[in-house]
Amino acid sequence: MTTLAPVLTIDGPSGAGKGTISRIVARRLGWHYLDSGALYRAVGVAASWADIDTSDASALVRCTFDTKVQFVEQGEAMRVLVNGTDATDELRLETTGALASAIAAIPEVRGALKERQRAFRIAPGLVADGRDMGTVIFPDAQFKVFLTASAEERAQRRHKQLKDKGVSVSFDDLLREIMARDARDAQRIVAPLKPADDAVIIDTTDIDIEKVVVRVMDLLPVSAA
Ligand code: DC
Repeated sequence: MTTLAPVLTIDGPSGAGKGTISRIVARRLGWHYLDSGALYRAVGVAASWADIDTSDASALVRCTFDTKVQFVEQGEAMRVLVNGTDATDELRLETTGALASAIAAIPEVRGALKERQRAFRIAPGLVADGRDMGTVIFPDAQFKVFLTASAEERAQRRHKQLKDKGVSVSFDDLLREIMARDARDAQRIVAPLKPADDAVIIDTTDIDIEKVVVRVMDLLPVSAA
């Protein structure tokens, strides 16, 4: 009998700190890391390269099956190749996030990515970050976390991140975009954004990254940590 590797799922809305927290926890545990949002973003990028209209669901589903995504570690950073081309920077754009969110509402697209995500579950363990990791992809995960933060706080974090990169955007536009994405992710029929019944909910609005990491690590048995 094969025993499935342990999984820690970290779900939540965009900007709640999932990516940062998941990466740090995965590194400390020596576990693999799945950035499931990057898969949806990669399909979005591939679709835009192929000039596929967002209203053409069947072309988007075909594109999902055809898109090859590779995660390549580069020191501390992770590069993402889409059909062999480094698309890391394009993947992080706000426009790509919005496109990914729209594409992610198509049930067949989600179905096409299901097994690909499950394939990341390999020893010694997996930290999986997304919207439906604990509810749909790994419902039997041993450890589940749902990270939240107020929309204002998440917009502020994103605003600072972009400012540090020299990108100037309006705070109000960012807040509007974050709220629109929350609504779309939470209201879709298939795998909407919501905490699993057995997830531990952590509000990160007023706590710093290290404290959140400690709270997540405290959920794991000492043997895993
Ligand atoms: O986590 P992210 O911002 O990179 O995700 C981009 C979009 O992809 C998000 O708005 C919704 C979608 N997504 C999803 O539907 N399910 C996931 N497990 C991960 C992301």
